[in-house]
Amino acid sequence: MNSSKLVKSLCIGVMMTSSFGVLAHGDVTPQAMDTSTITALGKEWKEQNPYRDVTGDLRKEILRIGASAYNQNCARCHGLEGISGGIAPDLRMLPSDFDGDEWYVYRVRNGAVRNGAVYMPKMADYLSQEALWSVRTWLESVSVEE
Ligand code: HEC
Repeated sequence: MNSSKLVKSLCIGVMMTSSFGVLAHGDVTPQAMDTSTITALGKEWKEQNPYRDVTGDLRKEILRIGASAYNQNCARCHGLEGISGGIAPDLRMLPSDFDGDEWYVYRVRNGAVRNGAVYMPKMADYLSQEALWSVRTWLESVSVEE
């Protein structure tokens, strides 16, 4: 093995070790979701939850993806199963309507930054529109809104 090949394989080794390190921590890096089993939505953000009125097996699949994406990406701040421990707002209380959608999209696309401190990252940088509307659909399914 010549030296540049050796350097290359060492680098690959280091890269693999460090990405396993991230996986071991689980929630350090937001995890992209496979959404190939549900309706694609295109690049342009929808103004309203496009999955809200979906029924049957497709709804089940949207809820499965939504619950999983939530638990992997939002739960560490917003609480397991959507039940906030107080670090961040309880998302089960967002209204399941147009106003709730608007606010949801605003936050997942812009995150929350105050005085330069990132309270919530821009989740849309890591998760697709399909994954994020699935999360919204799942949150609506566990809503405690009055
Ligand atoms: C690093 C912690 C963190 C992560 C991860 C996070 N959030 Fe947040 N989120 C916050 C905080 C803190 C706020 C409150 C921000 C504020 O009011 O300034 C917030 C606010 C929100 C709001 C507005 C709620 C309200 O009642 O005003 C929505 C919607 C939201 N987050 C959705 C999500 C979703 C969906 C995910 C996962 C895809 C997510 N967040 C991941 C910390 C986080």
